[in-house]
Formats: sequence, structure tokens, C-alpha cells
Amino acid sequence: MGDQPETSDVIVLGGGVIGAAVAWRSAQRGLRVTLVDPQTDAGAWRAAAGMLAPLSELHYCETGLLRLSLESLERFPGFVSELTELTGVATGFRRCGTVTVGWDGADLAGLRDVQAFAQQLGLDASMVTGRELRSLEPALATGLPGGLLAENDHQVDPRLLHQALLAAGALEGVVQVRGTAEVVARGGRAAGVRLSDGTQLGAGTVVAAMGAWTGGVGGVPRDLLPAVRPVKGQTLRLRLPGAPRLSRVVRGVVRGSAVYLVPRADGRLVVGASSEEAGYDASIRAGAVYESLRDAQTLLPELGEAVLEEVAVGFRPGTPDNLPIVGPSGLDGLLLASGHYRNGILLSAITADGVADVLSGGSLPDVLEPCAPGRLRQVASA
Ligand code: GLY
Repeated sequence: MGDQPETSDVIVLGGGVIGAAVAWRSAQRGLRVTLVDPQTDAGAWRAAAGMLAPLSELHYCETGLLRLSLESLERFPGFVSELTELTGVATGFRRCGTVTVGWDGADLAGLRDVQAFAQQLGLDASMVTGRELRSLEPALATGLPGGLLAENDHQVDPRLLHQALLAAGALEGVVQVRGTAEVVARGGRAAGVRLSDGTQLGAGTVVAAMGAWTGGVGGVPRDLLPAVRPVKGQTLRLRLPGAPRLSRVVRGVVRGSAVYLVPRADGRLVVGASSEEAGYDASIRAGAVYESLRDAQTLLPELGEAVLEEVAVGFRPGTPDNLPIVGPSGLDGLLLASGHYRNGILLSAITADGVADVLSGGSLPDVLEPCAPGRLRQVASA
């Protein structure tokens, strides 16, 4: 942690992937930035698998989110290569593609709908037969009827990405302060923050990027608080001896239960994820571990031989319409960058650029317009 400055151009509350990316990009524009976080390893990024998968994560009617995700994915190769060049930290970005496996005829029909939708938008997605699936991924269970191949849905390692973002920010002069803080408003605008030890830090603008905790940011009038809630997710980290068994991300729905397997280059696999409305209860639920392992092993039978290295718990910042909340909060001097739900890693590139645009006197890119905070305030939506 560096010395605490009395004033900065920008204070970012929240040192997760979104906050660290906003801090880095803003400092690159010549702004003096302070990043405040109580505990740098509690963010959703620690549990995230890092799928960069606009198409494979798509739910019906989420066209605004798809546009945003595609724009962010487009920026990702430049984003991560710049980070690695600056910091020497490899981010685990892999252009590996994703295959979503159907379990039965109904799944395949659903995947065909996604493919038709993708084709209308000019996106690359193709159906594969069971036989083609086995030749793409020989380790998958026999008898799977086929799936949808999205060659442009990739992955990054969120833990390495986070490390690179903090390092890049530090190189650009971002000052990190450990602590919890609330916004201090003066004369109807945010003027800085107050740390729990009473220290006040002044700033031209405060950015609240506290992930699942942003809905409770202190010092903000209740009617301006964003409708962000925690959606608990558990992911598993496993290691199989020998060469990696999968070359792509594999997703599937096994007897109604969604599962994904994300193969890292070093042979590790991330398996996820539960999705639980459980508040901030961070305990590891055995049933969620069991269900993920059961479903993942159904797709990849050898998984039973793997070493289970870690169970990680994270809180996705969910919103009522699954779109993030990015832009002016309604309180002058306070911006919001939160609510990224299942896509915080993917959307970090576009969010950081957009917020840095606003902080340096520009406006939000059009593609972020649907994310304006005014649409989803807690009181309005209560
Ligand atoms: N993006 C994957 C998940 O939220 O589980």
C-alpha cells in the first residue's frame, strides 16, 4: 500500500477486476487515482472461471448484453497484450473456443435456436453431431448427441488478470489504500470518501465498483443506491494427471443442471458453478460441490480421477435485468461501475474504457447506454 494522498482526481471503491481495470485505464489518461479496497482477494474474480463467451453465455432476449459482450471481447486481445507487455504477467488468455453439449433432443433444439439467432447476427456458430463432438473432444462421454461450437468464445485466467491489472495500475501511479470506506457528499455532490478509521480522502470523482457490495455503498442517498444483489457461486479447481483432456471450454446442461469445464493450459480444470440466492453466506455448501462434480463427471468421465485442489466461493453482482450498472449515479461526482453479474471478467475491458472516457471529460460509449444507473434503483424497483 502506498502513502494515502489527501486528494485525488478519482477514488475507485473496490479493487476487484472491474475496479482495478477502471483505476488502471483512468491513470493512463493522466488522472491521479486512488484505489480503496478492504481485502484484495475477496472479489468475485477469485471464483470466476474466466469464460469470455458472449454467445455461449447468451440467454434469450439479452441482445443489449450480447452487443456489449461482443464489443468487450473485441477489445480483449489488445487489453491483455497491453497488460502483459507492461507488467510481464501472462493473463492466461486463450483463443480456445467453446462447445456447448446437448444432453438430449430438447437441448439440441434449444442450441439450434441459439445457432439460428447467432447466424442472423453474422456470428460464427455451428452445430456438431455426436461423432464430430467426439473427434473435437475425445475425452467426452460417449453417446452425447451433439452440440453447438462457438469458435470465438474464449477464456482468460481471472486471478492472473487481476494481478496484472493491479501491477499495471501501480506502474501508472495508482495508489492502493486498504480499508472500507463510505462516500462523503458535500454541497449535493460526492467530494471523496471516509475510511473506517475516520481518515477522509478527497476526490473530484468517486467510482463505486464494489461488485456485489455496491448496493450498500455507504453515504449515498437511499433512493440512488443501485439494485445490485449477491448471487453466490461455487467453482471447483481440479487437476488431472498427464496431458490436458480438453482443448476447449465445454458447457452443458445435465438433467436440467448447467455445468461448465474450463481447461487451463497447465492441465488444471475449473468446474462451475452453483448459482444461489443466499445473501453473503460464504460457507461451502456440500450439495453444490456434489452437483458440480456429478454433472461435470457425466460429461468428462475421467474427472473421477482428478485431485480436487480448491473450492472457491464468490458473489456475482446480480441485477434485475442481468445488465451491468455503469455511469453517473444521480449524485454528482459519483459514478457506478457494477452489476456485471455473470460477465464481470469479459466486460472489464469495455467498462474500464467507458468509465475512463467519462472521467476524462467524454461520454459513455453508446454500447454502454443501456447500462445507465437510472433504470434500476433500489427504491424504484422495490
Ligand atoms: N460466468 C459464469 C458464471 O457466472 O458462473
